[in-house]
Amino acid sequence: MDSITVRRMPFEFDEDVDPIIVPGNPEQSFAMVAGSLLLPHLEPYLIRSMKAAEQEVDDPALLEDLKRFAAQEGQHYRMHMKWNATVRRAGFPGLAKFEEELAEDYERFSRTKSLRWNLAYAEGFEAFTMSTVKLLMEPNGFGEDLSPFMQMVEWHFVEELEHRNVAFDVYEHVSGGYLYRLLVGIYGQWHFTRWVRRVAKYMVKANEGRAPSRAPKTLVAGATFEMPKVRDILPRLLRIYMPSYTPHEVEVSPGMEVLADKYSAMAVKRS
Ligand SMILES: [Fe+2]
Ligand SMILES: [Fe+2]
Repeated sequence: MDSITVRRMPFEFDEDVDPIIVPGNPEQSFAMVAGSLLLPHLEPYLIRSMKAAEQEVDDPALLEDLKRFAAQEGQHYRMHMKWNATVRRAGFPGLAKFEEELAEDYERFSRTKSLRWNLAYAEGFEAFTMSTVKLLMEPNGFGEDLSPFMQMVEWHFVEELEHRNVAFDVYEHVSGGYLYRLLVGIYGQWHFTRWVRRVAKYMVKANEGRAPSRAPKTLVAGATFEMPKVRDILPRLLRIYMPSYTPHEVEVSPGMEVLADKYSAMAVKRS
């Protein structure tokens, strides 16, 4: 699980998929949908921050990792954009305003904050994601017969584990400093989780009385997906907040490697 493979995935999504992706559970559904809506704003910002660090990185191996990180994130947000279009077709007019606000935040961070700040935000996101991915997916992923949406999530999460060291290493290489990383990282985690919570809340409300795009289909078929509880995430967050934390010491279950191979085999082959 230490190599970073850039995969182009062939996922296709139905035109009129209903965004209630966990049948009968709008709260869980929209928490996941809001997470997907976040990414085409957040991941391009991560890429910008990493690219801005390029000239400061004189270690060729780290530079290669940085490029692969950016390439993976580029594939992630493009695929989420494709899926997010199905949500917009289902009719949630208030989303545009939330997205505009978020886009402005990330544009402002790139323009006004220091490289060190932006790299610390990036690592705050990556450490949080790595912790959540491990909680949700280990030991063996979401199961068989997944919908295209859940396959997208699983592929994305596997790659988050593959590149879990990069933002940390680039921050350490370019500037370093535990306390600064901790504080900006916690701010970042508050910033994007707050946006996700607000959007999910709006969608739950807007969904009341909305006619479904089509008969709800079990889109999480075969999956044992459940949103993580705060009490489960908390000890994992404490770990990433420790001064001794490094993603290099995080162990990943062998099942994740099996999934990485599965998605490599499924990826579009370049000619
Ligand atoms: Fe990603
Ligand atoms: Fe990432």
